[in-house]
Amino acid sequence: MRVAVYRKITFNAAHKLYRKDWSDEKNKEVFGLCANENFHGHNYRLDVRVVGEINPETGYVIDLNELKTVVQQEVHDRFDHRNLNLDCPEFKDLNPTGENIIVIIYNLLRAKLDSKYDLQVRLYETERNYFEYPV
Ligand code: NI
Repeated sequence: MRVAVYRKITFNAAHKLYRKDWSDEKNKEVFGLCANENFHGHNYRLDVRVVGEINPETGYVIDLNELKTVVQQEVHDRFDHRNLNLDCPEFKDLNPTGENIIVIIYNLLRAKLDSKYDLQVRLYETERNYFEYPV
């Protein structure tokens, strides 16, 4: 019996979308307000979905305390109250779009969770704009 287990967290972070190799004009044209010179913030929400078999001994798919700790350490502690462009080496040369952030987060979590679990993440940048990976 495979069951999906979810852990939800929020974190706040600043970013701006731009390419160093493009002119200010081109950045504004492509990224609009998101290219604003002095950054802007989002209240991100992350839904982590772990699917696996119920362990008949414990009745758990995964110990939610373990999942909570992994998500806290790998995502919240790393990105909360950070400037993604300036503070986080993951985005030194990578535009911190929702698409890129979710792939980075997935890879961080995937590395810490047993391969017997299927993992999917959903990242809300705003209430109306969100991303899912893998699809
Ligand atoms: Ni933004």
